[in-house]
Amino acid sequence: MADLVGAIDQGTTSTRFMLFDHEGNERGKHQLEHEQIMPHAGWVEHSPVEIWERTRSVMTNTLNGLGLQASDLAALGITNQRETTVVWNKKTGRPYYNAIVWQDTRTDRIASALEREGKGDVIRQKAGIPPATYFSAGKIQWILENVPGAREDAEKGDAIFGNTDSWLVWNMTGGVNGGKHVTDVTNASRTMLMNLETLDWDDELLGFFNIPRQMLPQIRPSSEPSWYGEVVSPGGFNGVPIAGILGDQQAAMVGQVCFAAGEAKNTYGTGNFLLLNTGNELVRSKNGLLSTVCYQFGDNAPVYALEGSIAVTGSAVQWLRDQLGIISGASEVESLARSVKDTGGMYFVPAFSGLFAPYWRSDARGAIVGMSRYNTNAHLARATLESICYQSRDVSEAMEADSGVHVEVLKVDGGVTANELCMQLQADILNVPVSRPVVAETTALGAAYAAGLAVGFWQNTDELRQNWNESKRWTPEWSDEQRANGYAGWKKAVDRTMGWVDV
Ligand code: G3P
Repeated sequence: MADLVGAIDQGTTSTRFMLFDHEGNERGKHQLEHEQIMPHAGWVEHSPVEIWERTRSVMTNTLNGLGLQASDLAALGITNQRETTVVWNKKTGRPYYNAIVWQDTRTDRIASALEREGKGDVIRQKAGIPPATYFSAGKIQWILENVPGAREDAEKGDAIFGNTDSWLVWNMTGGVNGGKHVTDVTNASRTMLMNLETLDWDDELLGFFNIPRQMLPQIRPSSEPSWYGEVVSPGGFNGVPIAGILGDQQAAMVGQVCFAAGEAKNTYGTGNFLLLNTGNELVRSKNGLLSTVCYQFGDNAPVYALEGSIAVTGSAVQWLRDQLGIISGASEVESLARSVKDTGGMYFVPAFSGLFAPYWRSDARGAIVGMSRYNTNAHLARATLESICYQSRDVSEAMEADSGVHVEVLKVDGGVTANELCMQLQADILNVPVSRPVVAETTALGAAYAAGLAVGFWQNTDELRQNWNESKRWTPEWSDEQRANGYAGWKKAVDRTMGWVDV
């Protein structure tokens, strides 16, 4: 009997496959990292071929490792790094260029020209997002303009676009032999090309970027029984229906069972993403947040969210490890930061991809300020953790101003939530309790929920709510004065990073 649901989580640094049972417990997992290709300052790429190979490996390794078969799986869900752009040829299956990753800033001139030409307000109104390097449209335009033959093939309908969800589904459902070219509403809402009200590609937006409509995948709901198709490859999964697709941050909302308007979560991964469910109402931000689709289950009306996206949080810890070499593993940052009682006046603003929400400044670059000779690696480690929390405070203030909702308890998930000091600092800096669930892999869990709901493995969202349990809660300890002074210093530090490069 099929008593498990599988989920592929194709993330920025790795791809994992996970199995969940009816109670939402993890029953198997395999994970592989892929290369981060950085050919120039500000450029970040992945190999789509490597991502597809890794996906097949993690899927078959999990199944074989547990001695399971396709018939043990009721359905498969997919969740993915959003915005990251792949353009490939549907006759050969070959990508025209590496995947251009959401963090990549090569399109900063495309983004600033849109604003100068007065198109920014149209984009904000229709797509719910500001012109920025972050989203897919400028990345598609860049490939069409810079890769020989790409535009010609796109006009003919041979060169097609997808985020990594579409790339994987197309490959899994037959590839050159009739693979399905689809995406879901949540991923489509991150391209800068979908109208948030009609949930369809918008011709005016396509015109801004000179993107032929025939390149784009069909947009489907996030959870539905049969449309995405059944797995053909990898063979061990033959016939398993792909029944759910969600962008990873929206998947975490589902995994955190944030199904009611006013419920929010903050995911701590490569970046941080704070989302607030606004129900069927499309709330337009006046404070630098994004309006986005949270999920759409079957024929139901879409549920929207406000989102505060922060580009660099967990990846700042990786930077301490890989570029500065002051820690040998990400977990070491906690003990190093604990070895001092504060940052010694130091602030680190890791604006490596410019500043995302709520500032949206592609001309910003990272800065470490407030140093004296007294400061050490330990202070920098602590300032890095504080930067994660201060950036989350920036977006949480914007969210409260936009929605009037004061989040009473912040639900958190993602890799960095294993860092207990960081979670304590988050409660201190926000002055709100922070709560982590037992299943911290909420992204994969959310994709499994979307797929399982579609095939009747779970009946409804009430049933999913029963599966959510708290593992740990942190409560604020700082005085009001410490909090106010700390945040004032952060704001001054952020000011220093702006206008650093010409765009
Ligand atoms: O918008 C980017 C986001 O989807 C990436 O998430 O967890 O892969 O860093 P993550």
